[in-house]
Amino acid sequence: MDKFVIHGGKPLHGTVEISGAKNAALPIMVATLLAPGVYHIRNVPELRDVRTMAHLLRIIGARVQFEDHQMEIDTRDANFPEAPYELVKTMRASIYVLGPLLARYGQARVSLPGGCAWGPRPVDLHLKGMEKLGATLTLDKGYINARAKKLQGTPIYLDVSSVGATGNIMMAAVLAEGETVIENAAEEPEIVDLGHFLQKMGAHIEGLGTKTIRIQGVKELEPADYTIIPDRIEAGTFLVAGLITGGEITVTHAEPNHLTEVLAKLEEAGGILEVKENSISIRASGEIRPTDVTTAVYPGYPTDMQAQWIALMALANGSSVITDTIYPDRFTHVPELQRLGADIVLKNNSAFVKGVEKLIGAPVMSTDLRASAALVLAALAAEGRSDVHRVYHIDRGYERIERKLEQLGADIRREDDGKYY
Ligand code: UD1
Repeated sequence: MDKFVIHGGKPLHGTVEISGAKNAALPIMVATLLAPGVYHIRNVPELRDVRTMAHLLRIIGARVQFEDHQMEIDTRDANFPEAPYELVKTMRASIYVLGPLLARYGQARVSLPGGCAWGPRPVDLHLKGMEKLGATLTLDKGYINARAKKLQGTPIYLDVSSVGATGNIMMAAVLAEGETVIENAAEEPEIVDLGHFLQKMGAHIEGLGTKTIRIQGVKELEPADYTIIPDRIEAGTFLVAGLITGGEITVTHAEPNHLTEVLAKLEEAGGILEVKENSISIRASGEIRPTDVTTAVYPGYPTDMQAQWIALMALANGSSVITDTIYPDRFTHVPELQRLGADIVLKNNSAFVKGVEKLIGAPVMSTDLRASAALVLAALAAEGRSDVHRVYHIDRGYERIERKLEQLGADIRREDDGKYY
């Protein structure tokens, strides 16, 4: 298993190119199951989760070729509507196949994802959505067995504005009979991107990027080519890297409009920003100012940037409070940051962070994707050597992060830590 060895304390300088958005690429790959044919998807990030999804599509019978951020997916022979436990347990986003498989084949057998390192992450809204569309669901040996002769359009109110449930229901509803209206729908840019792809395939969807999405079912869809939007979380993470190390970084191939709240917070925390159409530069002002953050659904501050913010605030010149309203248990990075010298007290879903003058390198353990990003950021700013173990988590969602950081002047290398977990 790999670890990162980081010698921290060096300000990062330079330009880094942002990859395509993981959370848009995953549902878009799945949406190709909705119509048989050959698709070309561009700006696909080279990530472990993307390879896992490609593997799942192959199990279903699709042919997938992936090279240099271009993916060709041929779904003409895809006809095995099943998502096995072995894959779903490694990537919860596998649940996205439920909607398209039901819509296209009238049946699906998808493993229930189970627990998550951040506490409960139910999929009840996905399942209720499919039932409302007319599917019959049963649970059998940990698998959801879903059947529907023909899905029927219907109004669906989401109790929680869930990204995954909105995407899944949208993909099922595009081939249903009649109109589906999703209320309290997710407005996240990744859902808008999925919607744009579905529209390119011929779907009738209105209200993308708002809380009410209207879908008029069509008889059939056709293959389309598409370019994935930039990853706003990767961009945000690199901008924090610039500020936390006291450096100056430009992220290119980015979409500043998707980062409004994060950019406002970075400025409040002392970052000097220059925003252009597709790039954002940050320069450290010499101090990190304590800045509270509360996560919220888009366009609020993203939960996927919560851990990175705690790392930044660990070095602020004062106290701040970071609250996660989306995932109240998503704080496994806190004890690891404390190993580097951070002063953080956890109370319910809030982290009370008292900035310290410096962090000191130490061995730390990644526990999930964004937690690992926070540890890498803290290690880049810490004095001395840190070994960040279990970086397979970070490989799920950051494309070659060590190479991108190295390019910015970081002293980071990947090593096999010789351990098997
Ligand atoms: C997606 C992102 C993830 C991000 C999250 C929130 C992908 C692949 N992953 O995850 O990186 O952190 O959005 O922005 O896009 N909920 C329910 N029932 C459900 C589904 C969700 O109660 O059936 C709750 C969750 O527990 C959570 C909230 O809704 O409290 C938001 O979750 P959701 O938006 O569904 O997250 P994901 O789609 O799983």
